[in-house]
Amino acid sequence: MTTTDGSGDGVLVRDVCKEFTSPTGEPLRVLDNVSMDVRPGEFISIVGPSGCGKTTLLRIIQGLDDADSGVVRVAGALPGRGPTGFVFQRASLFPWRTVERNVAFGLDLSALKGEPDHPTTKEARRERVAELLRLTGLADFAEYYPTQISGGMQQRANLARALAIQPSVLLMDEPFSALDAQTREKLQRDLQRVVAETATTTIFITHDIREAVFQADRVFVMGARPGRFVKVYEVDEPRPRRAEFQQSDRLAELAREIWGLLHHPKSEAVLAAARPTS
Ligand SMILES: Nc1ncnc2c1ncn2[C@@H]1O[C@H](COP(=O)(O)OP(=O)(O)O)[C@@H](O)[C@H]1O
Ligand SMILES: [Mg+2]
Repeated sequence: MTTTDGSGDGVLVRDVCKEFTSPTGEPLRVLDNVSMDVRPGEFISIVGPSGCGKTTLLRIIQGLDDADSGVVRVAGALPGRGPTGFVFQRASLFPWRTVERNVAFGLDLSALKGEPDHPTTKEARRERVAELLRLTGLADFAEYYPTQISGGMQQRANLARALAIQPSVLLMDEPFSALDAQTREKLQRDLQRVVAETATTTIFITHDIREAVFQADRVFVMGARPGRFVKVYEVDEPRPRRAEFQQSDRLAELAREIWGLLHHPKSEAVLAAARPTS
């Protein structure tokens, strides 16, 4: 099925507005008629200046926050209803659980709740966890505790945990930004492989424009607050992406173009001109 009507395992965002109240009591418009349509299995990146509303949008898609107006559907359902996986910048593993028990957490929970779509036997759950540990390269570290593994491995474990429940949509908010460049590039390639194998629809927020281009079928560029998508770039390269593409001139050129849109001294005017009139 297509997602233009919000069905399928895609994400539909239509005319979403969100206002907060500033500490001085002024209304602060953060999202201004934001719309996007993520197809099932698609990988999209969102880039934009700090404070433009990226995290706010993701929280709304996740169901942690409500939009003031507009429509959001995640795999055809209201936000927060279906299985959604999250990975954030800070690793959020339970320090008292081993890597394996962390990855199993969501499955244990859904088994407790008796959710029908999840493996109900202990054996089936153990198999799912083992498969994800393999996919994320953590098979040899199942018995380790989070403090005993590196930051990169902790983010792999977070990814494995998020995917264990077979989410229809994976939401990632700057998941690799606390890691060193080399680890980050390795994790980008691993993520490519894992989401391709699991065919997971992914929304990936990043500050790193090259990372955005490397990962995504489409890069959504958000303008300064109030946030709104000012341009969408197609990245015409088959996924999963490989190391050669990471180092390619084509990637560098596209990243430079997006950087120019975000950083050019006249970018305000460029962005304003790119805005659809309504
Ligand atoms: N709960 C809140 N109350 C008031 N203001 C908020 C709240 N959450 C976010 N904001 C403000 O909304 C704006 C967008 O924040 P955020 O979505 O985190 O931006 P980004 O992720 O793009 O850096 C910022 O100016 C931030 O201060
Ligand atoms: Mg943010």
